[in-house]
Amino acid sequence: MALIDPFNRKIEYVRVSVTDKCNYRCGYCMPEQGVHPEGEHTEYLSYDELARIIKAFVNLGVTKVRITGGEPLVRKNLPTLIAQINEFEGLQDIALSTNAHHLAREALALKEAGITRANISIDSLKPERFKNITRGGDLSKVLAGVDRALEVGMTPIKFNMVVMKGTNDDEIEAMVDYGLEKGVEVRFIETMPIGPAGVSMMNQHYAAEKILARVRAHVGQDLIPSQGKTHDGPSRNFVIAGTNTRIGVISAVSQHFCETCNRVRLTARGVLALCLGQEDSVDLRTPLRAGISDEELQQLIVDAMLKKPEKHFFNENVHNIEFRQMVSLGG
Ligand code: GTP
Ligand code: 5AD
Ligand code: SF4
Repeated sequence: MALIDPFNRKIEYVRVSVTDKCNYRCGYCMPEQGVHPEGEHTEYLSYDELARIIKAFVNLGVTKVRITGGEPLVRKNLPTLIAQINEFEGLQDIALSTNAHHLAREALALKEAGITRANISIDSLKPERFKNITRGGDLSKVLAGVDRALEVGMTPIKFNMVVMKGTNDDEIEAMVDYGLEKGVEVRFIETMPIGPAGVSMMNQHYAAEKILARVRAHVGQDLIPSQGKTHDGPSRNFVIAGTNTRIGVISAVSQHFCETCNRVRLTARGVLALCLGQEDSVDLRTPLRAGISDEELQQLIVDAMLKKPEKHFFNENVHNIEFRQMVSLGG
């Protein structure tokens, strides 16, 4: 059985948020005071519940799961969940999106449990600036996390840099150089107006085409568009001629990619979110805790796909602001 939405898109990628908490507070992602009133422990899905839902997705043809947050590594014993889902036949790719603050400590256990690769957010290579952007982050910990992840063979690593005009756009070239030094793909992300934090940063939006022009000028050789995509995520990729290093841009605002969308999201509180920039969603936690069977769970997921919208409208028609935050939806 496969998951097909009303626009004939096949859904093979689920982004699973394991927590809506984060030890950082990036200005485009969440307000300084955080987003939620602290949730009761029971509001969050347990690892067994998460694994059961992921299993249902895999039975329905999902091959790729990305573990997100908030910051996934602030949830205790994450390798336990990874080892559980690593057993699921048909699941080919278990990836992580992280700020890497705790990665030096966790990389080996995660890798052994089954995480194959990680996307790491780094918006600046200047310690003071990094601290300001993340409201308290420690760049040295992140860089140590990168090195450890590479050392334990968690590859490919990708760097995610949200480019903000006047804040870090002068570091595009330095980030390319860091990617080249480490042999790591660098993806430049346009700020997206999701939640009040995202909206507040849109005056710093920096378009992907301008980023690519800067990269081209810097490397002094052409950027060759990559055949296909690396992992079917939203980035448009290029290879720097003469190297194995790739550059990507994620241009949700200047050039959206909704027609090729292959993904849905599961929030830490058990809501299946059908689009990052819409509110269409289905609560899975209530029926799960009411005791539905595996078959009923799968049917619920199949039916939910009918609610997947054609494309995002970001901050239009916002009714549930707590839900529509980057940190709740997992990016
Ligand atoms: P790969 O699997 O390596 O391709 O990663 P990915 O790009 O799918 O995941 P990652 O968590 O690294 O996300 C990078 C950026 O892409 C983040 O800013 C996400 O919010 C954004 N992104 C991922 N999926 C979507 C989507 O469906 N719509 C929009 N608008 N942005 C998305
Ligand atoms: N716009 C663009 N990217 C964002 N991210 C978080 N909030 C936003 C936003 N408003 C990115 C993080 C991380 C990824 C999972 O999502 O930088 O790399
Ligand atoms: Fe935390 Fe990532 Fe949001 Fe920054 S972007 S506050 S690291 S969840």
